[in-house]
Amino acid sequence: METLRVAVLGPGGVGGLLAALLARDGHAVSCLARPGTAQHLDRAGLAVRSDRYGELTATVRGVERLDGPVDVLLVTTKATALDAALDRVPADVLGNAVVVPLLNGVEHLALLRERYPAASVVAGTIRVFASRPGPGVIRHEGQLAAVQLAPGAERLAAALDAAGVDVTVRPDEAGLLWDKLCFLAPMALLTTRTRQPLGAVREGHGEELTAVITEVAAVARAEGAASDPAATRDFAWSLPDGMRSSMERDAAEGNPTELEPIGGAVLRAADRHGVDVPVTRSIVEELRKRLG
Ligand SMILES: NC(=O)c1ccc[n+]([C@@H]2O[C@H](COP(=O)([O-])OP(=O)(O)OC[C@H]3O[C@@H](n4cnc5c(N)ncnc54)[C@H](OP(=O)(O)O)[C@@H]3O)[C@@H](O)[C@H]2O)c1
Repeated sequence: METLRVAVLGPGGVGGLLAALLARDGHAVSCLARPGTAQHLDRAGLAVRSDRYGELTATVRGVERLDGPVDVLLVTTKATALDAALDRVPADVLGNAVVVPLLNGVEHLALLRERYPAASVVAGTIRVFASRPGPGVIRHEGQLAAVQLAPGAERLAAALDAAGVDVTVRPDEAGLLWDKLCFLAPMALLTTRTRQPLGAVREGHGEELTAVITEVAAVARAEGAASDPAATRDFAWSLPDGMRSSMERDAAEGNPTELEPIGGAVLRAADRHGVDVPVTRSIVEELRKRLG
């Protein structure tokens, strides 16, 4: 198997899990992190507890800045930390590497392409429940670990597949990104607005949830994705009552939220295409006031 040089910017729930799986498989993994986390990782590596992969520890390099060429850069910070984190990746060191962001949202791709014109920025998404209880300590809940990649990241796709991740390469970038947002945005906005898990949202605010699903699907279609609001609604109604969103968790804990890259991005895309999204707009505007 080909050994890749992989840098992971933001080794938290998503980045730490993938870094550990790739390092365990023999790839040369460097984690780019803030000083305390970088030192910890360099000394102690990553410790993952996963319902799917079991307990694993992995040796990685922990560094504060990209200091040499890599084949792939995985970008796995939250959107709120992206700007500051990118200072750790000088464009001249990155060169023509493949850059795969796995953040939720759609707008970061343009930012990365502008910042790294010589690199090949390939869209990606991940479906997983992972968190970072402490630096270098990763908890992965459940069996879900599914990455979708646009064409251009085939070597990463092969490495992730061999490392045990469910990987799909699909040709339609807009579909790849908006499929994720079609469920995520309604779920995140409604759970955050009501401060309730999904079951209570369905019970008390089901019409609003359906309306936002329908509106986001219309925006996704305008963006070129083949969205299916009925299927998204069925999916939303099939999930456990206790399901929460990271936006709601972040809001509850007083942390910065991904309201703008998720909800704000839907409004901006709607405005670009002249799509009417009154219910989504009122929720995003209310949350902008509440969350600052
Ligand atoms: N977690 C999930 O299950 C999941 C699922 C699907 C999609 N996503 C999306 O994936 C993205 C990442 O989420 P996450 O849950 O993995 O976040 P997370 O656990 O909070 O991890 C973010 C990582 O970014 C690091 N970071 C913050 N500021 C940094 C900086 N200036 N320089 C370098 N690193 C920095 C943090 O470092 P420290 O460790 O030092 O704090 C942390 O390790 C988000 O867009 C999220 O919506 C998450």
